[in-house]
Amino acid sequence: MTTPQTRLSTPVTDTLNRHVSIRHYTDQPIPDEMLHSIIEAARRGAPTSSNLQTYSLVVVRDPDTKQKLAELAGGQKHVAACPVFIAAVADLSRVAHAAAMHGVPLGENLEMTLYATVDAALVGMTLCTAAESFGLGTVMIGGMRNKPQEVAQLLGLPPRAYVVYGICLGYPLPERVPSQKARLPHEVVVHYERYEAGDLSAHIAAYDAELAAHYRAEGRNTPDAAWSSVVANNFSKPPRPHLRAALERMGMRFGSGEEGTE
Ligand SMILES: Cc1cc2nc3c(=O)[nH]c(=O)nc-3n(C[C@H](O)[C@H](O)[C@H](O)COP(=O)(O)O)c2cc1C
Repeated sequence: MTTPQTRLSTPVTDTLNRHVSIRHYTDQPIPDEMLHSIIEAARRGAPTSSNLQTYSLVVVRDPDTKQKLAELAGGQKHVAACPVFIAAVADLSRVAHAAAMHGVPLGENLEMTLYATVDAALVGMTLCTAAESFGLGTVMIGGMRNKPQEVAQLLGLPPRAYVVYGICLGYPLPERVPSQKARLPHEVVVHYERYEAGDLSAHIAAYDAELAAHYRAEGRNTPDAAWSSVVANNFSKPPRPHLRAALERMGMRFGSGEEGTE
């Protein structure tokens, strides 16, 4: 298939094509009915594995709680500054409860943890698109996984639940809206019928240069290899090595679920 040059559009694709993460907000509050409409559209629009709905959303407006979450995320000021912060929670507590109502345990293992994590990711993404369609700015906050137990305690999560990421919502401060970051080229990421890696070094070098130009235009210091050097510098060691043990203490399981059985 050759890649068509014309792009068709709908209001949804227009919203998606306008996306840029927003980290600076005006003081304008988000009306309750708008927030409610966004959340209900996300819940309606997000598919969920086996209809288990293994996610919860915790909506935070309290300034003290947002300030504490900002600190737990490594001092991310936008978490405290946004008018509304929503935690996307992978939550197996309800299905464990439902199983117990029928006298059986929940089959807890890696796959069940993935159900909940993917469900939380999907509803949060859908929520972001709904919010951006109303003209709000969003940014996801994976920093919620820096200290997952502290975050869970602060938000009062039950066992078998953790915050996969948070979402800052607010009206974008016009003078601090960044220009869009280029994405990796289509041919590197999208494959037709079979995966074709192609000349990855050349593609990555071209993307490095494009992203470096973007950062410089934004007035930011950047190495020439703007993308690959960040990968090399920040990700040559596994990220958040403590995470699995912390999530296990919170009741999430990562094994087959058949440990100890024949
Ligand atoms: C799961 C996830 C976690 C993220 N965590 C953070 C974060 O902790 N702090 C932050 O400022 N941005 C965070 N981001 C935003 C990314 O940095 C951003 O999406 C990426 O640089 C691409 O930029 P764009 O969204 O403006 O296109 C996160 C994005 C995702 C998808």
